[in-house]
Amino acid sequence: MFSSRLISRAFSTGSQCNAKVAVLGASGGIGQPLSLLLKQSPLVTDLALYDIAHTPGVAADLSHINSKARVTGFVGAEQLADALKGADVVVIPAGVPRKPGMTRDDLFNTNASIVRDLAEAAAKNCPKACLAIISNPVNSTVPIASEVFKKAGVYDPNRIFGVTSLDVVRANTFIAEAKGLDPATVDVPVIGGHAGITIIPLLSRANPAVSFPDDKVDALTKRIQDAGTEVVKAKAGAGSATLSMAFAGARFAISLLRGMNGEKVVECAFVKSDVTESTYFATPLVLGKNGLAQNLGIGNVNKYEQELIKNAIPELKASIKKGEDFVNKK
Ligand code: 2OP
Repeated sequence: MFSSRLISRAFSTGSQCNAKVAVLGASGGIGQPLSLLLKQSPLVTDLALYDIAHTPGVAADLSHINSKARVTGFVGAEQLADALKGADVVVIPAGVPRKPGMTRDDLFNTNASIVRDLAEAAAKNCPKACLAIISNPVNSTVPIASEVFKKAGVYDPNRIFGVTSLDVVRANTFIAEAKGLDPATVDVPVIGGHAGITIIPLLSRANPAVSFPDDKVDALTKRIQDAGTEVVKAKAGAGSATLSMAFAGARFAISLLRGMNGEKVVECAFVKSDVTESTYFATPLVLGKNGLAQNLGIGNVNKYEQELIKNAIPELKASIKKGEDFVNKK
């Protein structure tokens, strides 16, 4: 299982690999801090920052940091191909965030076409890259990217991921707070999807093991499920989580690079899956040279968690179908 000690190593460890990471949506609220965190990683040799505006400035700014990643800004659709050529990992935070009262699905109309167009460019210019999709609704945008890759004839389900690391990060933090532990030493797997009741923290599998009365388990579970909304409300119209999402996105991208570099890394992410009736599902995954190396599945869960899984499946199926239909509509 993912250890928090590995998180700090992810941001500090030395490396042997040459890796190009492209960030699509690099000027945005998530994209800028995400790019900063990636610029700090010794695993990144080339950092391509793409957006529809402001990337020359963001790139100039980041390029003065004395870490080895070469930073290049790409602006506008005509420069997208060059941003993507040679990329090993493509991180996609592009799109609009939620405002108070919105669900992640309310972003579908805007973000679906953004992710489709970016995925089309990735399928054409770096078909072997691993995609880490942050743009919401993740439960639909991952199927969108997959359908685009299928249409282009370059689909590899082991290379397309929906980033759910923020759910793990939040679960680790809230459990640590409740037990007076150091959050960096707690590891809670979170499975399912990345929206409301589809977010399924497995508190019974927390490491170190923790126990709570049933009502506290329920309250913690709901807080983890609603944590994104907690930030949307606190930001009061100024968007959703950007800094913690950037942390989580960078952690996932760096884990992909560590896996490519031959390390055995385990991360939860939303992927094509046959472990439940839902055709995409987040579970702990071993990452390797070619992306997903082994799906570790759900593992042992208690009755409460089984019920959470059962309740999540219909919403997951509907969100997946909505994404697939969006690409395949006549
Ligand atoms: C969140 O969970 C932005 O979806 C992101 O806060």
